[in-house]
Amino acid sequence: MTHASPPRLVLVAGARPNFMKVAPIIRTLRRDCAWLRVELVHTGQHYDEGMSAVFFEQLGIPEPDVYLKVGSASHGVQTGRVMAEFEAYLLTTTPKPIGVVVVGDVNSTMAAALAATKLGIPVAHVEAGLRSFDRSMPEEINRVVTDSIADLLLVSEPSGQENLKREGVAPERVRFVGNVMIDTLVHELPAARALEMPARLGVKAKQFALVTLHRPSNVDDPAALGRLVDFLADVSRDVYVIFPVHPRTRARLSEFGLDSRLDAQRVRRLEPLAYREMLALMDAAQFVLTDSGGIQEETTFLGVPCLTVRECTERPITVTHGTNTLVGGDMAHTFEIIGQIRSGSYKRGARIPGWDGCAAERIAHVLVDTWRPNAVAARQTG
Ligand code: UD1
Repeated sequence: MTHASPPRLVLVAGARPNFMKVAPIIRTLRRDCAWLRVELVHTGQHYDEGMSAVFFEQLGIPEPDVYLKVGSASHGVQTGRVMAEFEAYLLTTTPKPIGVVVVGDVNSTMAAALAATKLGIPVAHVEAGLRSFDRSMPEEINRVVTDSIADLLLVSEPSGQENLKREGVAPERVRFVGNVMIDTLVHELPAARALEMPARLGVKAKQFALVTLHRPSNVDDPAALGRLVDFLADVSRDVYVIFPVHPRTRARLSEFGLDSRLDAQRVRRLEPLAYREMLALMDAAQFVLTDSGGIQEETTFLGVPCLTVRECTERPITVTHGTNTLVGGDMAHTFEIIGQIRSGSYKRGARIPGWDGCAAERIAHVLVDTWRPNAVAARQTG
């Protein structure tokens, strides 16, 4: 007797900020949907041990079913490689997936969504609807394109729903599911705290600032990066700074000859950190200074002040309801905020609906509800 193979659902991850989003989704789907084969595709956009493998180990993400090895390249080349490799994978494996799930806003997200949609495979986008309204950010292009072609738009904060409505998206394509990255945070926080990271680094909790910088607009331009480095040097006179350095930023600091402008006694530079180590430091920091997207959300959940060195954010709820402030390039404003943090008068932030550790269950529910009937129909006709 031959058994028909189970319906397939394909999850795609490619870069560091994707891994903490796919972890709870794959865990939940594999636990609750025994009728489904849930596959994981790693595009290989990020490939360094510290940018990729360590997240798989710590977050218990299963080995990818396939590793596309696209690596680093210009936007066009990287996007094209993901499209070509992912399309080939979808064409050479059977049965045709009932759906593809992409997360976040990196090049792999958009490329995989394009490849799947063009093959007539429904796509769900997790973290849909976020908009910075700044088209010079590569992520904004990725968000707009992915949302325009995905069938299911799974939203993490109310601005996502409002943006999609304004763009004329049919409401039945949109579901509010909350923030899946917070699922991972909730799951990992006890283990992160147990690491006692401040003690390991010889600092006291709430007596250091944590810094991350990697946006092209901040680090690829010598003048912009030079200004930020001088600013960090100023901040570090008041508070000890811990700075895990993204590979892009490390390369630029050295290329632009800026390495020596940071006093190594006051600014501790580290290799990119694994998930738990980073979470532990965020949780223990007096404040975080960053240009990351995800860190704005994680600090809001933790109630830790976050100063975002950008002019705009696609995650406005972190500013209106959370602990985030956009400080752009305004150094005087930044020092004013740091003063408020020190004196205890800085805003505390509120709980955000749907940022509760249960987003993956809501996502799984929507996916099964929407796609299971297709799987049943395909079996009946096939
Ligand atoms: C990408 C995402 C960004 C996300 C960031 C998190 C896009 C457009 N950008 O930016 O949204 O916030 O990931 O890290 O998708 N490199 C390594 N090892 C690696 C990966 C990258 O050395 O494992 C270096 C390479 O020199 C590479 C550079 O970092 O050229 C940039 O990598 P890339 O994936 O193009 O973009 P990120 O800046 O990491």
